[in-house]
Amino acid sequence: MKSFSSVLLLAGLATASPVARQTTGPYDITNFSASKVHLSGYCNFAFDVSAPGLSVPSHCTAYLDSGFSGATWLANVYEGAGKCDNAAVSWTFFQPTTAGSGATFNVTVNGVKGRYAVPAEDITVSLNSEPNPFDNDVAYTGPKAFEITEFVE
Ligand SMILES: *[C@@H]1O[C@H](CO)[C@@H](O)[C@H](O)[C@H]1NC(C)=O
Ligand SMILES: *[C@@H]1O[C@H](CO)[C@@H](O)[C@H](O)[C@H]1NC(C)=O
Repeated sequence: MKSFSSVLLLAGLATASPVARQTTGPYDITNFSASKVHLSGYCNFAFDVSAPGLSVPSHCTAYLDSGFSGATWLANVYEGAGKCDNAAVSWTFFQPTTAGSGATFNVTVNGVKGRYAVPAEDITVSLNSEPNPFDNDVAYTGPKAFEITEFVE
């Protein structure tokens, strides 16, 4: 009888104990850079991310074509194209090609997606030479460090 009640007690404790779950954000982004290589359509992206559930910051990069050397937008980093040194982290970046658009930057850590809206004024376009659009430069010129506080299920 005694052992039976202790089994019941243990079963009760097991149900009551909370399911281990990652605390959501914020995700701290540091050293963020994104820029188009001069006279090329290729863009370089790099940043570090610290988040609950990551014991050390993860370093992420991408090198992708914006589609046109004279682009006035940053390349689309589609799902799977951004690299990180931790498999628990993935990210995407998208700036519409419409002049003066901001961008969306999503960072997923352990399946929890954080979303950051990059303001249009944080992306600087330099039209160096009107007759030669290939001279265009595009770069992120906003703060290198920011927090992602919006999470999407
Ligand atoms: C940011 O970059 C600098 C040098 O480029 C480096 O010393 C620093 O550790 C980096 N920050 C993080 C959080 O990795
Ligand atoms: C970021 O996530 C939001 C919400 O899921 C989605 O609408 C948007 O297209 C995503 N942006 C990128 C660049 O993947």
